[in-house]
Amino acid sequence: MNTDSLQIIRPTRRLLYDLNIPGDKSISHRALMLGAAAKGITTIRNLAPGRDVAATRTCLEAMGVTISGNPRHCTVHGASLRAFKAPAQPLNTGNSGTTFRLLSGLLAGSSFPVTLTGDASLCRRPMARIARPLRRMGVESRLDDGERAPMTLEPATPGAIDYTSPMASAQVKSCVLLAGLSAEGRITVTEPALSRDHTERLLPAFGVPVTRKGLQVSIHGPANLTPADVHVPGDPSSAAFFAAAAVLTSDSQITLRHVGSNPTRTGFFEVLQRMGARLYWGESVEQCGEPRADLVAESSVLKPISLSAEEIPTLIDELPLLALLATQANGTSILRHAAELRHKECDRIASTARNLRAMGAAIEMHDDGWTVKGPTPLSGAAIETRGDHRMAMTFAVAGLIASGATVIRGANCAAVSYPDFFKDLRNVAHV
Ligand code: S3P
Repeated sequence: MNTDSLQIIRPTRRLLYDLNIPGDKSISHRALMLGAAAKGITTIRNLAPGRDVAATRTCLEAMGVTISGNPRHCTVHGASLRAFKAPAQPLNTGNSGTTFRLLSGLLAGSSFPVTLTGDASLCRRPMARIARPLRRMGVESRLDDGERAPMTLEPATPGAIDYTSPMASAQVKSCVLLAGLSAEGRITVTEPALSRDHTERLLPAFGVPVTRKGLQVSIHGPANLTPADVHVPGDPSSAAFFAAAAVLTSDSQITLRHVGSNPTRTGFFEVLQRMGARLYWGESVEQCGEPRADLVAESSVLKPISLSAEEIPTLIDELPLLALLATQANGTSILRHAAELRHKECDRIASTARNLRAMGAAIEMHDDGWTVKGPTPLSGAAIETRGDHRMAMTFAVAGLIASGATVIRGANCAAVSYPDFFKDLRNVAHV
């Protein structure tokens, strides 16, 4: 075990802090990809700093796209989709499902075959969900055992599609829409519930008209993208950890600056408010279709909660954190309809249940989520992150309210989305 990746967290209170949250990971991937597909110079401010977005950048660079500047403020010198060069090696998307699935869409109209791969976790995740609609658009691909990465896309000109997605997945929706940029005809995706809509919001800023009607979104291909200036808001999924830390610890108040407040991403904060949390949004401003606002979170007494299936996509990445919050609510919370969590960077249903139980929580595991009885005092334990950044950060927050020491093993995976997470946590919480 690499000791760098071990973090020890002790109980604390009185978190009083003002924090700038790093840029949104989902928007950063999209801004880089659309910038690469546009003809001209796109500037991106407050790009997400983690390894996932770095993987997108490296893959684009491997296809001849020049991206200059530092990791947080960069300039993309795009030359259009048709200007991508065949990469010398398979594109390595690392741990990033978003890079893999969105890039597959972006490259669906390539004139060369291209192979995408990733790390061991990524190569266990389901990819037929993108291969299926791509095939219906006339884009052939080969996946390992028909389901997993690596994936090789054959050269194609994608055709029109009216796709009804079986799942509310922004990655599937975005894959099809991005393939639509080089398609001949109308591309429509309908999803069962609204997933994060950053692709649809960003495309018009790059000169691509988008039609939206309820759960349906359409574009017309082929598209000529024009460059944009994108200022990425703070990542609400990263802000969630600090909001939860303030809510759970006594005498605390944290102000989080410029947090993305796109309603397809704020489900966690809405649920927390329903639980009785003292959480307040400031006035919002919008740039490239994406709203942002300051968010204040304070120590709170929590009520239990039940989640509906429709709200799951709006808080999909925050569910382990919500399970932690439910351990401190006065009653039984039912957090279900989330079988998709089994297919994230690790099986987050099993991993959350295992780690919360190790800390003394009363949590029952189901195929699609958990039932959590609260309130239960937590005690420090050894936490296995299974290489999953959201596990590392969720259980670091748990450590703030657990008695004794919480030892996070493999904590450096937080760098996938938030490299300075432990530094910021220690500044805020003095642990
Ligand atoms: C993402 C979509 C979500 C989310 C992931 C980022 C995106 O995945 O869990 O962290 O940027 O499109 P699914 O679309 O697979 O649910």
